[in-house]
Amino acid sequence: MDNYAKQLINRMSRLNNTTVTDEHLAVLEYVYGYYGKHQVGPLYQNLNKNTGVSRQDIDRLFPHGLNSIYSWVGIPIHSSNNPCKPAPMFDVDDYREVYLDHNGTTYQRKEVNEVLTEYNEGHLGFGNPSSSTYLGKQAYDLVDFARSRIADCLKVKPKEIAFTSSGSEANNMAIKGIAFHQLNQKGHIITDKIEHPSVLHTVRFLEEIGFDVTCLDVDRKGFVSPESVKEHLRKDTVLVSIMAGNNEIGTINPIGEIGQICRETGIPYMVDAVQAFGRIKLFPKEMGISLLSISGHKIYGPKGIGALYVDEEIPFSIVPLIHGGSQEQGVRAGTENVGPISAFGKASQLICSEMEQENERLLELREYFLRELQMVEPDFIVNGSLEERLPHNLSIGFPGIDSGALLLSLNHIGIYVSSGSACSAGSSEASYVLKAIGADTDNYGTIRFSFGHRTNKEGLSYMFKYLPSILEQLRSLH
Ligand SMILES: Cc1ncc(COP(=O)(O)O)c(C=O)c1O
Repeated sequence: MDNYAKQLINRMSRLNNTTVTDEHLAVLEYVYGYYGKHQVGPLYQNLNKNTGVSRQDIDRLFPHGLNSIYSWVGIPIHSSNNPCKPAPMFDVDDYREVYLDHNGTTYQRKEVNEVLTEYNEGHLGFGNPSSSTYLGKQAYDLVDFARSRIADCLKVKPKEIAFTSSGSEANNMAIKGIAFHQLNQKGHIITDKIEHPSVLHTVRFLEEIGFDVTCLDVDRKGFVSPESVKEHLRKDTVLVSIMAGNNEIGTINPIGEIGQICRETGIPYMVDAVQAFGRIKLFPKEMGISLLSISGHKIYGPKGIGALYVDEEIPFSIVPLIHGGSQEQGVRAGTENVGPISAFGKASQLICSEMEQENERLLELREYFLRELQMVEPDFIVNGSLEERLPHNLSIGFPGIDSGALLLSLNHIGIYVSSGSACSAGSSEASYVLKAIGADTDNYGTIRFSFGHRTNKEGLSYMFKYLPSILEQLRSLH
């Protein structure tokens, strides 16, 4: 192993509080050698065959499991298809963790944990909400309360909210739920090129079974123009699905205008608001929105819980994806996930009531970030619109920088971000969102920084303390 890998191992052993034994070294040497030969990290099967370690051994030896082994010897994350260049490594004496990936997911807030603890300890909502017993009624009331909290945020009726297992399910449920009414005659669906995969793959599936799909272009800032929606409407259009805030570049679409067009033509309008809920004002009744999806884990609530707003005035209800009981107004069968639903309700109520104040704080932090960045990297670019943008998102292009390597270097010093491509600037795997806005992915490596409750100036200045030397080393290495 070269010195770089050896230094990394020392560092990782310190960070993870793990004493490196011969058992560790056998695994690490194999992984390192395999990567040198194949330029990809070995799969578990190879590892097991060649070193004899079992999954349990790996979990015992490496606190963060199989994938973490790659970072111990400097194999880039996402290395399997398109290896990133090596990342420089720093020793910092003021190591701390700075989470800047709130578009990816958020931690659960204290109040949410309290609700979950009460539920998990059996003090609250243990019964089956469909049961006629007192316990059942208590659980039913909890679900109903959460429903009305979410409805209040959106200014809609509680019965127009259905709980799901995720934002992805809500998107599937809305789109397929409308389309499945037209399984015989099929029809036309309008969406755009930078939707989340849970929308894009769903419409692609519908295309495979005979629907006609128009996937609109977006402009260089990531906007879908209301005019292009209007131009593409057809007599057989059954659904328009255009998101509120984009998860990668943060651009907020003119959903009110698009909604108005859809309302005038009587076509259901679906909005993926997973990123935008609690961040911008979303009032479906005023905005002409017929269906709107949200998710718990983007707003400091639990993972694995989402909801779909379904306007009671659309001419027909949606066809359920899950048939069975009559839960969720008959659109989504299955005994409700009472604890997480209740916690999701709490998270929604809090994020909506705190939105204005928190957005002000986030915008100040974002300005501070951009000012600092200007000093470190004057030629950076911001992907997406800076004005019409989710307040907690920044997507930054660094000239001549390998985004995978930058992500990894930041990761080494405890800063968690997300990159805009599987690996590097110039990579064939640059994200479809960046490609769609015409970003120069050959010359800029993109990192998404997304802020949240725990983001503060101290954390950001920790990053800016080390960013100049990371960028310098990356440029000298590559
Ligand atoms: C815009 C958008 N839609 C949908 C989803 C899917 O939500 P979930 O993770 O709850 O399935 C995400 C998650 O990243 C998202 O960002």
